[in-house]
Amino acid sequence: MLILGIESSCDETAASVVKDHREVLSNVIASQVEEHKLYGGVVPEIASRRHCENILWVVQKALDDANVTLSDLDGIAVTYAPGLIGALLVGVNFAKGLALAANKPLVPVHHIAGHIAANYIAHPDLKPPYLCLIVSGGHSHIAEVLSYTEFRVIGRTRDDAAGECFDKCARAMGFPYPGGVHIDKASKLGDPKAFTLPRPKIAGNEYDFSFSGLKTAVINMLHNAKQKGEEINCNDLSASIQDTISSIVTEHCLNAAKHFGYNKIAVAGGVSANSGVRTAMENMCSKNGFSLYMPPLSLCGDNAAMIACAGSYNFDKGIRSGSSLNAYATMNLEENVPFDA
Ligand code: KG4
Ligand code: ZN
Repeated sequence: MLILGIESSCDETAASVVKDHREVLSNVIASQVEEHKLYGGVVPEIASRRHCENILWVVQKALDDANVTLSDLDGIAVTYAPGLIGALLVGVNFAKGLALAANKPLVPVHHIAGHIAANYIAHPDLKPPYLCLIVSGGHSHIAEVLSYTEFRVIGRTRDDAAGECFDKCARAMGFPYPGGVHIDKASKLGDPKAFTLPRPKIAGNEYDFSFSGLKTAVINMLHNAKQKGEEINCNDLSASIQDTISSIVTEHCLNAAKHFGYNKIAVAGGVSANSGVRTAMENMCSKNGFSLYMPPLSLCGDNAAMIACAGSYNFDKGIRSGSSLNAYATMNLEENVPFDA
C-alpha cells in the first residue's frame, strides 16, 4: 500500500510517500524557519504564501524521490487540523485537487495523530495500546492510544504548550526563533538547580499541564534583573527551565501510567527532541520497568512521513473524506469531523 502524505499546518511544507504503513520511501520538507526568524515567530500570512509557492514542487519531489507516480498511490493523506488555518487550507485544497485529478481516495489526518505515528516509523515493534506524551509548539497532551486510529486524551495544557513555553522563555533571553533548541544547547553548560521555577498544581485534573506561570516567572525575572542592571546567567536559567519542564511532563506521565495501568510509553512532537525531556523520560521508564518509544530527532518535528503513516492506518479503517473537506484551526484529537465519503 502506497500513501502520499501532505503536511502544511504551520511553517513546514512537507510531502512523503510511505509504503505498507511504516516504510518511508521519500520525505521532503521545505522549512520556512529562516524567514519567520526575522519576526521572532511564525507570521501566518507569510506561512500560507510560502506553502502556496512550495507545495507543488515538494509533492512532485516526494513522488520522484519515491520513484512512484500518482497512479501508483492508494490514497492521498492530508493534515486537516489543528494548526494555522490559512496554512492548513493550502495543503487541504491541494490534496483535494490532486485526489480528484488522480481519482484517488482522500484521507484526512489529525496533526497530533500524525506526531503519534512518527513512532511507528521508528519502532517496528510498537503497537497500541500505550500511553503517549505529545509535546510540541502548539500542543501538550497525554493520550491513551487505544488503537491506530482511536485516542483518549487524559491530560492537556490549560494555557501554553511546552514548546511555546520553551520558545517564549528563549525569546526573553535573546535567543533566535525557534528557541527550544537554543535552551537545550545552553542547558548543557548550566546548573539545572540554579533557579527554582513554578511547578503549578492543576485543580480538577492532575494530568493537565499549565506552563504560562513558568513563562511569566522567567520573563519577570529577566525584566527585574535588567532594571537593576544585574546579569542573569542564561545557561543556568536555560538548564533550570529545561529541568522544570522535563520533570513536570515526566511526573505527569508516570502518574498517568500508574493510574491507567500502562507499561508502554511513547513521546512525540517537536519537544520530544529535547535532551532533558528524553533523559528524564528514559530514567523514569527504566526505574519503573516501562518500555519507552521516542522518535529519532529527524521525526520529532513536523514532517509528512508521520502524516502518511497515520493516513495509511486511517485508510485501513475506511476513513475517507470527499470534496467538502475543510480545515480547522482547533480540533479535539478524539473527535473526527463528519467526513463525507
Ligand atoms: O511538532 P513541532 O515541529 O510543531 C508543532 O506541531 O507545534 O514542534 C515545534 C516545537 C517548537 O516550539 C520548538 O522550539 C520545539 O518544538 N523544539 C524543542 C527542541 N526542538 C524543537 N524544544 C526544546 N528542545 C528542543 N531540542
Ligand atoms: Zn507538529
